Amino acid sequence: KLKMVKICCLGAGYVGGPTMAVIALKCPSVEVVVVDISVARIAAWNSDQLPIYEPGLDDVVKKCRGRNLFFSTEIEKHIGQADIVFVSVNTPTKTRGLGAGMAADLTYWESAARMIADVAKSDKIVVEKSTVPVKTAEAIEKILIHNSKGINFQILSNPEFLAEGTAIQDLFNPDRVLIGGRETPEGKKAVQALKQVYANWVPEDRIITTNLWSAELSKLAANAFLAQRISSVNAISALCEATGADVAEVAYSVGKDTRIGPKFLSASVGFGGSCFQKDILSLVYICECNGLPEVASYWKDVIKVNDYQKSRFVNRVVSSMFNTVSEKKIAVLGFAFKKDTGDTRETPAIDVCKGLLGDKAKISIYDPQVSEEQIQRDLALKKFDWDHPVHLQPTSPTAVKQVTVTWDAYEATKGAHGVCILTEWDEFRKLDYVKIYENMQKPAFIFDGRNVIDPQKLREIGFIVFSIGKPLDPWLKDMPAVV
Ligand code: NAD
Ligand code: UDX
Repeated sequence: KLKMVKICCLGAGYVGGPTMAVIALKCPSVEVVVVDISVARIAAWNSDQLPIYEPGLDDVVKKCRGRNLFFSTEIEKHIGQADIVFVSVNTPTKTRGLGAGMAADLTYWESAARMIADVAKSDKIVVEKSTVPVKTAEAIEKILIHNSKGINFQILSNPEFLAEGTAIQDLFNPDRVLIGGRETPEGKKAVQALKQVYANWVPEDRIITTNLWSAELSKLAANAFLAQRISSVNAISALCEATGADVAEVAYSVGKDTRIGPKFLSASVGFGGSCFQKDILSLVYICECNGLPEVASYWKDVIKVNDYQKSRFVNRVVSSMFNTVSEKKIAVLGFAFKKDTGDTRETPAIDVCKGLLGDKAKISIYDPQVSEEQIQRDLALKKFDWDHPVHLQPTSPTAVKQVTVTWDAYEATKGAHGVCILTEWDEFRKLDYVKIYENMQKPAFIFDGRNVIDPQKLREIGFIVFSIGKPLDPWLKDMPAVV
């Protein structure tokens, strides 16, 4: 009888949790234990209220938890028993020292590697699941080998491509699974062992195997390409507003070219999420370290356009409303970085709200999945501080007084001078905008950062409407805009 494969995953976050839950579901003969240094997070994974909101996740966890899926804080014990150790810890942007504001901070990764070296008593395959700078495997290998007491470690790079909000779907049916390893006989054996796990549900032709550096770099490159598409369409959106073209029509026509394709071409107030900015900054830093300043500056511009898009939006709001929002109530609909998630990491809503607060607005925020506590924390945290284990973050930052949070879009918009739509939640398409209009101050403004509403219909109600990349409202054309 084959020995049961034991997997341990360090890091029970957005990636570790769902990925391991799906491995457990699809591989009944594998035992999976997800461990974390955050006691609260593990407790939540073991409760009815999982620590992250992800469609379909509850179902998968319910089916396997207690069967072949476990969540634990006994990190050392479970590393010790595992054949394969996934490392899915945070890799934030460094906030101080060499490479601050750009380089990936590998503190958590290195401490995970040292812990593995410390407690391992049998051979192990160590899998990089976190997104890391290219060549990290070499550093990890050195740490493991120099501390190994004769144990054989094989390092694999197996970056994760899931997107939040569709994580379970993406994991069930991935475009590809990527496994990089050493080209030695032991390395190849390790690649095969991990491939066998995925082969339980992923068709063989979608499992790509490469060398370590290609796998590590492919993850950074994929995120850079995706973000670049958004910055491209957002750059065009600014030109659309200036010329009377409609970005949705332009994107549709451009995307019909099969070489370009229709996906990921929605203009927006800017991309957010925990990955794009962090990974591009990391890529830029690596380019600079390798003496490639032209390549670095090429990718840096993707972020520059994204920052421009966010500040352009704020400028549009302020300039349309007679150049001041001081003490005016502005309703913000949507705070999560995209729909179907409660995640707010690097959400454009943070920058937009901070911009409006800078002009002394009073903000009333509604998001169906984000709590008041989370929003207050996000608005108080310093840049990049969010990406550290929860228990290492400041616990009760002082609340921003000018901000209130409601659990209803009608409450948020009552008495407001303007409404900003910052997340494309489906429910925002179906709101009763006549009711909203009636309860607002006049003139009533709406700024749609996600193109979820029909500007024509809202103009008929009486709103002054701004939609990203759409022909300007006659009102806005007359306002001197600094955008
Ligand atoms: P996360 O912050 O949700 O989870 C990371 C977890 O690791 C935290 O719970 C933290 O407490 C834990 N941790 C830190 N150090 C630890 C240690 N030494 N031992 C055990 N646990 C430890 O982060 P995430 O979103 O899951 O991302 C993890 C990695 O995956 C990052 O490198 C990220 O770039 C990458 N990634 C994320 C996504 C995504 O959509 N979020 C997608 C692909 C790749
Ligand atoms: C991304 C990658 O898609 C995923 O493969 C990787 O593993 C992690 O990073 P994620 O950040 O979860 O996933 O979500 P994604 O759907 O890529 O959206 C990122 C941001 O771009 C969101 O703020 C979203 O609203 C924005 N976006 C996306 C646009 O503005 N326009 C689009 O057309 C698509």
